[in-house]
Amino acid sequence: MAVNNVLARIESVLQEERVFPPPKEFSRRARLKSLAQYRKLYKESIAAPERFWAKRAKEELVWFKRWTKVLQWQEPFAKWFAGGQINVSDNCLDRHLGTATANKAALIWEGEPAAPGKPGEERTLTYKQLHHEVCRFANVLKRNGIKAGDRVLIYLPMVPEAAIAMLACARIGAVHSVVFGGFSAQSVADRIQDSQAKLVVTADGGFRRGAVVPLKQNVDEALTLEDARGGLLAKSIEKVIVLRRASNEVQIQEGRDVWWHQELEQVDAHCPAEKMDSEAPLFILYTSGSTGKPKGILHTTAGYLLYSKLTTRYVFDLRDEDVFWCTADVGWVTGHSYVVYGPLANGATSLMYEGAPNYPEPDRFWRIVEKYGVTILYTAPTAIRAFMKWGVEWPRKHDLSSLRLLGTVGEPINPEAWIWYREHIGGNRCPIVDTWWQTETGGILITPLPGATPTKPGSATLPFFGIVPEVVDDYGRPVPPNSGGKLVIRKPWPAMLRGLWGDPHRYQQVYWGEVEHSYFTGDGSRQDKDGYYWIVGRIDDVLNVAGHRIGTAEVESALVSHQKVAEAAVVGRTDAMKGQALVAFVTVKSGVHTDGALREELRQHVAKEIGPVAKPDDIRFAEVLPKTRSGKIMRRLLKQIAAGTEIKGDTTTLEDLGVLARLSHAEE
Ligand code: WT7
Repeated sequence: MAVNNVLARIESVLQEERVFPPPKEFSRRARLKSLAQYRKLYKESIAAPERFWAKRAKEELVWFKRWTKVLQWQEPFAKWFAGGQINVSDNCLDRHLGTATANKAALIWEGEPAAPGKPGEERTLTYKQLHHEVCRFANVLKRNGIKAGDRVLIYLPMVPEAAIAMLACARIGAVHSVVFGGFSAQSVADRIQDSQAKLVVTADGGFRRGAVVPLKQNVDEALTLEDARGGLLAKSIEKVIVLRRASNEVQIQEGRDVWWHQELEQVDAHCPAEKMDSEAPLFILYTSGSTGKPKGILHTTAGYLLYSKLTTRYVFDLRDEDVFWCTADVGWVTGHSYVVYGPLANGATSLMYEGAPNYPEPDRFWRIVEKYGVTILYTAPTAIRAFMKWGVEWPRKHDLSSLRLLGTVGEPINPEAWIWYREHIGGNRCPIVDTWWQTETGGILITPLPGATPTKPGSATLPFFGIVPEVVDDYGRPVPPNSGGKLVIRKPWPAMLRGLWGDPHRYQQVYWGEVEHSYFTGDGSRQDKDGYYWIVGRIDDVLNVAGHRIGTAEVESALVSHQKVAEAAVVGRTDAMKGQALVAFVTVKSGVHTDGALREELRQHVAKEIGPVAKPDDIRFAEVLPKTRSGKIMRRLLKQIAAGTEIKGDTTTLEDLGVLARLSHAEE
């Protein structure tokens, strides 16, 4: 993977020179008030990481048994707080009982409105109530055969039960694997097969923009899908627990499927938290990589909990009275760390919203901010760009004065969107934290601390405590300021992934085999003269489409699984709204007619194989794909064609030069 493709993307933000110091009013009350304070703590965390993390682990977490070793590092395998015993659910719930937090709202949930004009349903669960529900559901899991170490697949809409199911797994030591409700039956089946999950927790359906997503039906289908040899992909599944949400009709298979509400009648609320090893697996979360098969990112217990707790508190400068709204779905890592675990470990109030930002109208978010007095809003650049497009009249209709801090995550934010967010949502008074991290990192690694760090639009600024990033060239050597390179992390941190589920070799190869003795992020970056990081996005074959991570190889393999397709190559193209868009170059089998109908058929096919998020924005048919003599598809060339830029570089090794011209004019 070469760094030269980072360079072009850097140009656009090199010009950005605006600096926004933390607003005085904010800093005055903030946990960290100056850059000097941050630098002092950061230095400490780097000079003596074990001491730094041991101190926090002691102060922040409730342990059954203290650890014996803070860090055991055998590259690329880390063990944090080895020998300790702890439970995540205990730290998120039980520890708040008997304190003033017990009757505070843990989750505020706003459902999608049933119809335009109608208010959404709402529910609030205090810590005491959430604890009660989690204990009961944990007993339901046990009743259905789940024990510590078993994998449970969670496929639910954004309802409180999603958090309840996650915490119930954590409580009994089961490993959850949440699958985003927008993924297909095929994706569910693949994840079951890879994780060997024993049980699925799902709902009859979920609401999305007034329609019902048939989740249970997708699960039913997933449980019938076969692999290439005719074996059932999901044969490890013994039970399916079904939550009633949308009241759509579903099939219940006796002996396998049970209703959530009926199961609850069979259990009590007594369920002590299991004493788990610090390194016991907490969850698996599948994410796209540069091959056709999603990777099961494995996170474990104590280090993840500590890191998500600490980053939530420092990055968002949490106060007791905050209403914290992270708009991510629990199907993504952001939902794990900053809707559920981080906020709850801190005893904060976390808001969950079920629906879309523009349903029934484009002011949905601002209505919610006003209704609940949201103080911290954490969302994605792609959403911000959509709000810009919909117009300032929508936020203007609402009183947003409760907001005191804004955050973004998921992709690079263009300075224009940053400034708009600051002005029209933050009223020029709220600091913005642009937080860089990944499914693999478990929590935020590069970010401003809002009372301390002057921000620059488009930069994620400086590393969090204990994080040692560097920008390096193809040989792993640090590059000078303002030069582009690969972003690596030089030292282990508590929330780092512990591996890929069932594939230690691939873990070593993908993350630790690219740059010596470093974790390779897959991102390109530069560091400016102030040491600020400017992340420019993926430099591997992973795209970031509207904040969703999509592997080009995955989409390619979905396309070639269609009977009319011979070959496919998928590349990214810059898109003003989504950040990147997917462009697929497709050759069809002989005799197949290529037209608009086939294009739509292929888009639907990808939606069925992976999920609607992976549908190509653009499909171009070609007679052959440009290849080198050794048979490698020339992706650089395809990217240029997709971008509509003029074709540069050596094309003489092309099998068929004529193909170029035809590809360039392949639009209907
Ligand atoms: C990739 C990780 C981690 C939460 C959601 C995405 C990109 C993430 C930023 C940011 C620039 C960012 C990177 C990264 N990314 N945050 N603040 N600035 N790029 O998790 O699906 O694992 O994707 O998202 O390219 O590698 P993910």
